[in-house]
Amino acid sequence: MTIIQADHIMLNDPAHTRVAHAPEYAHGSAFIHGTYVDLDNAAIPMSDLGFTQADACYDVVSVSKGYLFRLEDHLERFESACRKFQLTNPYSKAETVEILENLIKQAGTKEAYVWWAVTRGFMPDGNDRINPQAYENRFYAFVVPYVFISDDEQRSRGIDVLVSKLFIRIPPKAVDPTAKNFHWMDLKLSLFEAQKAQKEWSVLCDADGYLTEAPGSNIFLIKDGVLFTPDSGCLEGITRKTTLELAKEIGLPLHVERVHVEQLLNADEAFLTSTAGGVMPINSVDDRVLGGKAGPGALTTQLHNLYWTKRWDGWLGTAVDFDTPATV
Ligand SMILES: Cc1ncc(COP(=O)(O)O)c(C=O)c1O
Repeated sequence: MTIIQADHIMLNDPAHTRVAHAPEYAHGSAFIHGTYVDLDNAAIPMSDLGFTQADACYDVVSVSKGYLFRLEDHLERFESACRKFQLTNPYSKAETVEILENLIKQAGTKEAYVWWAVTRGFMPDGNDRINPQAYENRFYAFVVPYVFISDDEQRSRGIDVLVSKLFIRIPPKAVDPTAKNFHWMDLKLSLFEAQKAQKEWSVLCDADGYLTEAPGSNIFLIKDGVLFTPDSGCLEGITRKTTLELAKEIGLPLHVERVHVEQLLNADEAFLTSTAGGVMPINSVDDRVLGGKAGPGALTTQLHNLYWTKRWDGWLGTAVDFDTPATV
């Protein structure tokens, strides 16, 4: 079995190609605290605390073949992140869905990356900064054509990753990683560290050497036919949840528990999962080619292909009705 060339299909198959849209939405569409704009004209006020203090939570759902994937799961995770950070979405769930669908329709993207956030907003009058009720939280969203973290070529040969030596993932008692947040500096600097080591992506551990997650993605490994992924220190990724379901479907035993970095180095197969890329096979970790053989492992390939084929069949999808105009 070979890796499905999902990127190629999404760009070229008529069932996936972009539908007609106004030229100003070529790069995407956005919603800025109540106003729809094209992406090129979307701007955040500088003193919004989301910008100055990373005081926000967000979520990302993808669209493929015109289906939003697991929309309800993303909305629930977002609501939960708002609660954890004492933020309030000014829009109801139904209104949030309407905004997101309007943006997708404006951009005409059957393959889309759909991002939204609630920020704390501005510092309240009287500098009442210790009272969460004193802030007017703000909602922002944008939609752009879908982009893979790793393209067809990379997923076909597997990516080469580095376990960061310089950074650990920010500890859960500092920022709760189960609430999708703007604290990306550890992740971002570990990517630059990976580039310096001539690797393509990074993976971060906690202070005790247990795996947490990778920039924008969760980490999985397979050893002796058993699938392992960390149970804590990471975002509960929707692609992670999907992968656990797919693994069950193909009869893979699952271990969701603390996973030491040594287990990754000695794994037969490994992969990352993300809304921005699905299942992304790993070829090597710190120069060690997993399973002693270059390329994606057989089980990883199976999970990768199942992920996309099921999605394109509409599995857990919400169809975007491109025939009905946006209600903007
Ligand atoms: C830090 C982090 N971990 C994991 C993930 C993967 O989550 P999901 O599968 O829901 O995209 C993301 C997604 O952006 C992320 O930012």
